[in-house]
Amino acid sequence: MMTDILKLIQQRHSTRVPYDPNRPVAKDDLRQIIEAGRWAPTAHNMQNFEIVVVDDKKVLEKIGNTKSQVSEAFIRENYQQLSFSEEELLRKKVGILGTVFPPEWRDPAKLGEAVRESRPTPLNHRIRGSTVLLIVIYDARKRAPASEGDVLGFISLGCVMENMWLMAQSLGISVHVLSVFSAHVVEKEIKRILSIPEYMKVAFAFRMGYPVSKPTRHLRVRRDEETFTHYNKYENKGHR
Ligand SMILES: Cc1cc2nc3c(=O)[nH]c(=O)nc-3n(C[C@H](O)[C@H](O)[C@H](O)COP(=O)(O)O)c2cc1C
Repeated sequence: MMTDILKLIQQRHSTRVPYDPNRPVAKDDLRQIIEAGRWAPTAHNMQNFEIVVVDDKKVLEKIGNTKSQVSEAFIRENYQQLSFSEEELLRKKVGILGTVFPPEWRDPAKLGEAVRESRPTPLNHRIRGSTVLLIVIYDARKRAPASEGDVLGFISLGCVMENMWLMAQSLGISVHVLSVFSAHVVEKEIKRILSIPEYMKVAFAFRMGYPVSKPTRHLRVRRDEETFTHYNKYENKGHR
């Protein structure tokens, strides 16, 4: 029913907490999530994606030991997007609550220091307790016809992500998408660990599981419909 799919879409959310290492995702559920990805729309039906399922403890460990470093660009651009209180986020309806990041990332006076102090840290703390990760990759040599910069290809990968995310949500499985896997240094290491050929690129990692403890409610916001829809003509709605 229509209402059911809308509810599912509204309920889908990011769960960025440790997952229970003793509660693996059932094989049948995993198969259904991949099946949902298989039927995603892609530009020109290119289906330019492959999924590496990582569920071997030793491989997960190797991935967890891979180090990533937050870039200066991320810290500075992230700061521009932050809200500093729930009230501010409720007002803006866009972006993320600053409290999910370290305090020094939220203080403009300390941003420089945060950048200097930033050290490579293992991915472990981000994928804690995960028993399965889907690494979504694509062939960088291909693109949809005349799709400059492969924009259509990236949109297609997003469709794969959303299909799988909604399927997981409907099965009661939590999801955390990690784009850090596509950062150059991390990607290089992940490709080495998983024997991914040179011409393939990592799009994102799709982490699934069941949180160890009930995650605390976090504020999720969206813009009001009338602030981004235009009928028959673009109207200036005060965007910068
Ligand atoms: C292309 C893409 C990349 C994302 N990368 C990350 C990521 O690296 N880390 C993360 O915690 N969330 C990531 N997210 C999740 C978004 O931050 C999240 O969907 C957004 O803040 C809305 O929150 P919600 O998923 O709870 O509705 C990503 C989402 C998309 C679509």
